[in-house]
This record gives sequence, C-alpha cells and structure tokens, in this order.
Amino acid sequence: MGCFSCFDSPADEQLNPKFGADCGYGGTSAAAAYGAGFGRHGDRGYPDLQQAPMAAPRVEKLSAAAEKARAKSNGLTKEASVPKDANGNAISAQTFTFRELATATRNFRPECFLGEGGFGRVYKGRLESTGQVVAIKQLNRDGLQGNREFLVEVLMLSLLHHQNLVNLIGYCADGDQRLLVYEYMPSGSLEDHLHDIPLDKEALDWNTRMKIAAGAAKGLEYLHDKANPPVIYRDFKSSNILLDESFHPKLSDFGLAKLGPVGDKSHVSTRVMGTYGYCAPEYAMTGQLTVKSDVYSFGVVLLELITGRRAIDSTRPHGEQNLVSWVSDDLFTYK
Ligand SMILES: Nc1ncnc2c1ncn2[C@@H]1O[C@H](COP(=O)(O)OP(=O)(O)OP(=O)(O)O)[C@@H](O)[C@H]1O
Ligand SMILES: [Mg+2]
Repeated sequence: MGCFSCFDSPADEQLNPKFGADCGYGGTSAAAAYGAGFGRHGDRGYPDLQQAPMAAPRVEKLSAAAEKARAKSNGLTKEASVPKDANGNAISAQTFTFRELATATRNFRPECFLGEGGFGRVYKGRLESTGQVVAIKQLNRDGLQGNREFLVEVLMLSLLHHQNLVNLIGYCADGDQRLLVYEYMPSGSLEDHLHDIPLDKEALDWNTRMKIAAGAAKGLEYLHDKANPPVIYRDFKSSNILLDESFHPKLSDFGLAKLGPVGDKSHVSTRVMGTYGYCAPEYAMTGQLTVKSDVYSFGVVLLELITGRRAIDSTRPHGEQNLVSWVSDDLFTYK
C-alpha cells in the first residue's frame, strides 16, 4: 500500500524550506544536537535541501571513530571500526559503496528480490566484508521526495535504538544512488502473514498475534515516551512491522517520522503524510500531528490482527472496504 500526501503538493513543499528535512533535524549539526540531548529542539533549523538536494547525509559525524574509519577506507567501512552498543548493534550507520552492495546482491539478481514498496525495491544480500546477511532497499530515483525520506530514515535510525526498531546497518549515497542496508528480517512483514497467505503456510496463531502487537506497541512507546523529544512515526502499518525468525516484531521505514511537540505544545503542524486506512482522521483533516496519530494507526493494525482483514480492501462489498468503518458500523453498533 502506498503512502499519500493529502494537502500540500510536493511542489509546495519544495518551495517551503520549513519542510527541508521533515524530521526536524537541522542536518548534521542538528543530528549532533540530538545525540547530545537535543539542546536546540526549539530552534527548527531546517536545511534547505533545494540548495543541496543530493547531499549525502552525514550522520557518521556523530562518531569520530566512524568518521576516521570512513576517511581511512574511503567508504569501505570495516566491521571492526564500527562502534557497537551493549548488544553488539552498530550505533552509527556505515557507508557502503554502490559496488559493495551490487556485489552483496549479486548485481540485484531477481532471486534476491524480497519485495517492493513506494520507495523502491528490497533485495536480500550478503556483505562480502563481514558475511552478514542484510536487506538492501534501493530507492527509486524519482527526485527530491525520495531523497528527503532517505535522509530522514538515516538520521532517525542512526540515533534511535530499540529492540523493536529495525537496525539500520548503513547506507550508500554514491553519486545519485541511494540505498539503505538493514538487518535482514527472515519472516518478512506482518502483512505477508495476515493476507493472501499461500495454502502451504499456516496462519498466525493467537499468541503470536498478541506478541507482535505487544512488541510493536513497545517500539511505539520508545518513540513516544523515551526518545527526547518524542518521535512521531507516521507510518505504522502491517507492512512496516518486520518479523525475525521467532516472530519478534520490529518497526521499519522511518522516512516519514517527525519530531513531536515539545514544551507545552500539544501538536506539530505538518502536511498530511501516511497510508490510507491507517491515518488518524483528525490528523488527515487538520494537519495537526500528535503521538495519538500513531496510536490510531496502532488500533487499525490491532483490528487487522484480530479480524484478519486488510485496513482497506476494495475487493469487499461496499460498506466493508474500510476496516475501521466496518468494525465501528457493523460490529460495535447495537441494532
Ligand atoms: N529488513 C528487511 N528484511 C526482510 N525483508 C524486508 C526488509 N525490509 C523490507 N522487506 C521486505 O520488502 C518488502 C517491501 O518493503 P517496503 O518497506 O519497501 O515496502 P512496503 O512497506 O510494503 O510499502 P511502503 O513503501 O508503503 O512502506 C516488505 O514487504 C518486506 O517483505
Ligand atoms: Mg515498508
């Protein structure tokens, strides 16, 4: 299911530097400020991506060690030089050359193809330097919007770390190529297990469904209550909940994420982004974004888990196509 932007056109956004980086981080310096405790979060110093629309994100500046390693190897970051957290996860994104990622996916062979979303194709690969199996997302080269989401994704996932968020291993910004390298999630997305299940595949049992809901909720709780300032995910949906071999869920796709309100502010005003069927109606109508917008989307996924129906299903009879309306009109209305 694709993302949409209901209100402002991409052209409006391009003209308005306020939307230069929709996450609210002012490029490298703001990313550093995030790492240092968000000292300047009141000052939304958005960079104007018009001026440098294809500039590579420089999140590796967060770590002097990573930067040193990068300078030394000219983009071929060595595993040993990457700073790790207590669980062994890399805490800053590595940079890869396009050649490395082409090698990892055997030149993006169809056998390595995992799926495709609004931003591009995803391939399974193996990094030659470490042997690690990864998922590589190659962004469509369709202009500024994809590049902005690439930048936000790298910034957000380089700074936010939790067991229920997918781990970003690194990225490639060679020339006009934009690729993201993630930990490989062997069981694919929750959507793959809920809808159009092949006959030889078992449906998820109830306990697994609830475990997935609880894990995804913990990921959201981290973004809303532990990150400071809070992060609003804006793209909570079943295709963005990835599953490992034991169905432990992790949220993925942070290209639409946005810093939440700080101080006594109740919301942030922004153009409406998200996915049909999951987007909170009050946000869609007003453009006023709060953490509750994510909670609404969580509710939609919970309904998908409980009913096995899609959030939007145009193959169903009129009146049943929108899951939320169907549930509220038919199931919860006493007639
Ligand atoms: N880290 C990963 N590990 C394994 N498979 C993945 C990974 N990331 C994505 N995929 C697979 O690639 C598919 C496409 O993912 P992608 O995020 O590009 O699109 P989407 O979520 O379906 O749509 P949208 O663009 O609206 O987010 C997913 O359905 C999933 O099966
Ligand atoms: Mg996705």
